[in-house]
Amino acid sequence: MVPMPFAELHLHLEGTLEPETILRLAERNRIDLPYADVDALSAQYDFADLQSFLNLYYANMATLQTAADFAEMTDAYLARAARAGVRHAEVFLDPQAHLSRGIALEEVMDGVSTALESSLATHGVSSGLIIAMLRDHSAQSAMNVLDAVVALGKPILGIGLDSAEVGHPPSKFIDVFARARAEGLHLVAHAGEEGPPAYIWEALDLLGVERVDHGIRCLEDDALVERLVTEQTPLTVCPLSNVRLRVVDDIADHPLPAMLQRGLNVSVNSDDPAYFGGYLDDNVTAVRDALGLDEAALTTLARNSVTASFADDTRKVELLAEIASG
Ligand code: ADE
Ligand code: ZN
Repeated sequence: MVPMPFAELHLHLEGTLEPETILRLAERNRIDLPYADVDALSAQYDFADLQSFLNLYYANMATLQTAADFAEMTDAYLARAARAGVRHAEVFLDPQAHLSRGIALEEVMDGVSTALESSLATHGVSSGLIIAMLRDHSAQSAMNVLDAVVALGKPILGIGLDSAEVGHPPSKFIDVFARARAEGLHLVAHAGEEGPPAYIWEALDLLGVERVDHGIRCLEDDALVERLVTEQTPLTVCPLSNVRLRVVDDIADHPLPAMLQRGLNVSVNSDDPAYFGGYLDDNVTAVRDALGLDEAALTTLARNSVTASFADDTRKVELLAEIASG
């Protein structure tokens, strides 16, 4: 079966490092990891919450050293995403997590950009890069990264906000987002994953984000839902991630159908697929099977993913036509 075309809008490149790749890179770059084999590493993939995942996610990044490593990681994701039906991908990168362990920004950006530049020709996937700011680091650190990335001149779509949410509200980053806006960059932020609805309000009102990543806790605030529905603000929802990080108890309890029902502009995404049990196709299959979403609902999700993307109008029209033709 040919998968339905989707845009993937919420994907952390570093979250696509499969255990096998981590061990291979560790060997190649002579990095000591405390796991003898894939089974020992995979046994760690049992998370109590977002922070317990982030601890492993950042630790495993130690294996990424050279531009070639970053290019390989990015290309492997694009190849797998293409098989999942992804035709356009807007991917997050966490430069601070690499700079803080002594990897040069040029090395990181060269590798990722090389793979993204050829994504359409090589994999049939148009793509763009979103620089994610680590919200548990200082606002000054985010500003420094923004300045450095802009000075480098590699094409980027915009900036985002990720990492440990609770205790690090969007308000901390008002100046960084204002500066990014002045640079003509798109703005998105993780909000309402573990954090409260107030963080979604802040992301909208104080940062001026165009999309909210996750956002599922908006359902706790009727006025917020009304605002998001009225403005049709896209929410990039990640069902398997929410289960693995215990944001929801079980895939069968996921609020995606309720969100669709209320008229929210939701799409389905894979977040950190190597850690959470699946790529975009696995997420779509999971919501279809566990939540009983029919063909019409899946088509809405596919259409939403394209209209919420920052792809140019020609590409959007092309992808929407593909979705319409089934
Ligand atoms: N970084 C990588 N994955 C993340 C997630 N699900 N939430 C916040 N920060 C992240
Ligand atoms: Zn995320």
